[in-house]
Amino acid sequence: MVAVSSPAKVLVTGANGYLAVWVVQKYLDAGYSVRGTVRSLSRSAFLKEQFAGYGERFELVLVEDITKDGAFDEAVKGVDAIAHTASPFHYNVTEPDGTSNPRRPHPTSDAFLPTQSSSSPPCGAPRRS
Ligand SMILES: NC(=O)c1ccc[n+]([C@@H]2O[C@H](COP(=O)([O-])OP(=O)(O)OC[C@H]3O[C@@H](n4cnc5c(N)ncnc54)[C@H](OP(=O)(O)O)[C@@H]3O)[C@@H](O)[C@H]2O)c1
Repeated sequence: MVAVSSPAKVLVTGANGYLAVWVVQKYLDAGYSVRGTVRSLSRSAFLKEQFAGYGERFELVLVEDITKDGAFDEAVKGVDAIAHTASPFHYNVTEPDGTSNPRRPHPTSDAFLPTQSSSSPPCGAPRRS
C-alpha cells in the first residue's frame, strides 16, 4: 500500500459511525484533513461541534445511499486516501461490491482502508485508474 503522509486529505465514509468517529479523531490529531461522508447532515451536526477545533481540516459531505452506482464520485475528488467504514448491517448479501463504490477511486486517491467484519459486505483493494 502506498504511504500517505499528513497533511493529506482522507475521506472517511460513514463518519458518524462508532468506529468512524475514532478514525476521524485519529487522522485529525495526526495532522491530516478529513472529509467525512454521512447520510444526514442534520443527524450528524454533533460532528461539526465535536471537531470544531480543527477548523477547515474537517468537513462533512452528504452521500445518502452508498449502494448507488457512483455514490462517491463527487466525495472522492481531491482526497488522497479513503477509510471506508460505512456499512449496512445485514445477512442478505447478493452483490459483494454493493458498498464498494470508493474502490473506483479518483486518480489522486492513493490508499483504501476498508473496515469490515463477517457481517458486513466485503470490500476489496482499490483499482487505480
Ligand atoms: N464496532 C466494532 O467493534 C467493529 C469491530 C469490527 C468490525 N467492525 C466493522 O466496522 C464497520 C463499522 O462498524 P461500526 O460499529 O462503526 O458501525 P456503525 O456505528 O453502525 O456505523 C455504520 C455507519 O455506516 C453507515 N451506514 C449503514 N448503512 C448504510 C447505508 N445503507 N448507506 C449509507 N451508510 C450506511 C451508518 O450511517 P447511519 O448512521 O446514517 O445509519 C454509519 O455511519 C462495519 O463494517 C463493522 O462490521 C466494527
